Amino acid sequence: MNLKKIKFFLPVYLVMIVLSVFAEDASLAPTPPMGWNSWNHFYGDVTDKIIRQQAEAMVSSGMRDLGYVYINIDDTWEGVRDNKGEIHSNSKFPDMKSLADFVHSKGLKLGIYSSPGRKTCGGYEGSYGHEVQDANTYAAWGIDYLKYDLCSLGDLMKVTATHDTATEMMKAAYTKMHNALVSTGRPIVFSLCQYGKDSVWAWGPSVGGNLWRTGTDIEDKFSSMAAIAFRQAGLGKYAAPGHWNDPDMLEVGNGGMKDFEYRTHMTLWALLAAPLIAGNDLTAMTPATKEILMNKEVIAVDQDKAGRQGDRVYAEGPIEVWSRDLADGSKAVAIFNLAESVLIIPVDFSKLGFKGPVNARDLWEHKDLGVLKEVYTAKLFHHSCQLLKVWQ
Ligand code: GLA
Repeated sequence: MNLKKIKFFLPVYLVMIVLSVFAEDASLAPTPPMGWNSWNHFYGDVTDKIIRQQAEAMVSSGMRDLGYVYINIDDTWEGVRDNKGEIHSNSKFPDMKSLADFVHSKGLKLGIYSSPGRKTCGGYEGSYGHEVQDANTYAAWGIDYLKYDLCSLGDLMKVTATHDTATEMMKAAYTKMHNALVSTGRPIVFSLCQYGKDSVWAWGPSVGGNLWRTGTDIEDKFSSMAAIAFRQAGLGKYAAPGHWNDPDMLEVGNGGMKDFEYRTHMTLWALLAAPLIAGNDLTAMTPATKEILMNKEVIAVDQDKAGRQGDRVYAEGPIEVWSRDLADGSKAVAIFNLAESVLIIPVDFSKLGFKGPVNARDLWEHKDLGVLKEVYTAKLFHHSCQLLKVWQ
């Protein structure tokens, strides 16, 4: 290459180098992360012992071998900072390094939680002003995943002058921690949690996010789960290998929904290419819970390597029909009945882009349905769904 060309391309190379440092690392989350998090079941009661038990159950249940590898400690592990400003875990977690070693010895990875604010949502020590120090501590412990929850930074943002400066403050805070994590040299998945503020999906990758929460906290109720899930319509274009929309952690197995509602929950998360972060007690799973969390065909939809998030095709009253394009050219098609009674639902495959008869397989029943006519009729009980793989 001659000097003229080098001069011409130099700025392009520089921009590429800068972008590669600041943008998210796609190799960290080529498909949506899968694992477990302590919050939805244990809340503030999480301890070192519980984490070890969950890690063991992740392996013995067979979940690890299906791809659930992150064991994530949520809020309430934090202790105080010492006179050098270094964060220590509290008495519930006597030795984080040895806990990480234990989790790694099981073929799993360990996640942790903090906030860009002074305090976490639970009122524990946040990372404000200690970002580099904390990132180095996490790396030294052997941490592989950080959920970074806005919490009290939101209060600081409220006192800044304008909406724009508040948004910039938030982006700067996430970028700061991302850079600190990158500087450790340890691959650490960066999970943004700021409840979807300021359309985070549009700028999440630019602050290094591998996933970002798109809304408020999920509750173990069908109404909460469904409201969150169906609000994801239209966000598909923001997800891709390396960075994912996160409608929140799973509630499957926590007891607040019927098993067929949990199936609907899992179906939606798979269609949405959502991170599959279980939130139940893995040491006490019913066969139905296992069947839902460990359905290989449904997990394969979630983890499809093309990484194209699904979306609503149409909705008519309490009926929703969603589809997701898969890498092999087929589509995952989900039909939902949100009514309080049984519905007979005609599904017109031509609305899904098919012409003439289609081949279909029921992914919950593990059953080939053979060739279906262009209009198919599903009979669905209330709050239930059917998940099909459809191809021609
Ligand atoms: C926020 C988050 C939750 C959980 C709690 C912990 O509410 O959205 O997922 O991490 O904080 O305090």
